Amino acid sequence: MPKNNLETKIAGLKKKHNAVILVHNYQLPEVQDIADFRGDSLELSRIAAKTNAKVIVFCGVHFMAETASILSPDKKVIVPDIKATCPMANMITAGDLKKLKKEHPQATVVGYVNTSAEVKAELDYCCTSTNAVAVINALKDKKEIIFVPDKYLADYVSKQTRRKLISWNGYCSTHVKILPEDIKREKKFHPFAKVIVHPECIPSVVALADAVLSTSKMCQYAKENQTKEFIIGTEAGLIYRLKQDNPTKEFYPASERAVCPNMKRTTQEKIFWALEELKEEVKVPDDIRARAKIAIDRMLQIT
Ligand code: 13P
Ligand code: SF4
Repeated sequence: MPKNNLETKIAGLKKKHNAVILVHNYQLPEVQDIADFRGDSLELSRIAAKTNAKVIVFCGVHFMAETASILSPDKKVIVPDIKATCPMANMITAGDLKKLKKEHPQATVVGYVNTSAEVKAELDYCCTSTNAVAVINALKDKKEIIFVPDKYLADYVSKQTRRKLISWNGYCSTHVKILPEDIKREKKFHPFAKVIVHPECIPSVVALADAVLSTSKMCQYAKENQTKEFIIGTEAGLIYRLKQDNPTKEFYPASERAVCPNMKRTTQEKIFWALEELKEEVKVPDDIRARAKIAIDRMLQIT
């Protein structure tokens, strides 16, 4: 139900254009409140691939809208703020990856979904934080594996799968702000709380966790676990959804510093203007799209 005039106008425009609003778990509460679907990178890609809507309003960061456009080329994908990009995705270019591939010509190339469409076009397999371990486990017969761009996700996956990975020096500038001393301090205040962290966190933080999960898997874990208190090692925006879904449980952010400025660029007002003007459109050129889609489809087949 719309709560105010702006939400009523957005609902009217959505109907007029047959649009759907997809929202990542880190978005501002006012954006999460008007989501048709809210989820992690994997869930949102799946929804983008199967929606019947004509227009997708993607509230997240640029690579997510690109992924939606790759999977649904016949849909118009628009973003409320074109400047909302992911610093980690910007840490590797297609040129960088081509060079790395030349140095390891036999290697199978796996890339995190947090990459540009041009980089995805150079991958053999895509993965998200939900399925990175499953994707690497599915490559048992491959001798050499390149994994880009997140060195910390690579470290986590390597430990879980006991595979040596050739990694890139990328990282999430938000998750690296969560430090082991943050977890230890919160654990002192809340000794019975479970610690759940994202695999983009640094290894010394991951080592202190009870569970290492994607954002939506964190939501599932919090719902299903008998524990009443949780220390959350990821971007602070997830706490809003966790509290909404579990009103009788307590959630403590590991660090107040873990705020992704790009995820906070989208507002209801910008969503209204995006729907009013049907822009900014994110469209991936056909040749890149076709190559990038192979890596994403292979991932979707594995999980
Ligand atoms: P997930 O929601 O897929 O876990 O991703 C986290 C993230 O940092 C996205 O940019
Ligand atoms: Fe990128 Fe990290 Fe922000 Fe996610 S939280 S969009 S990985 S910078």
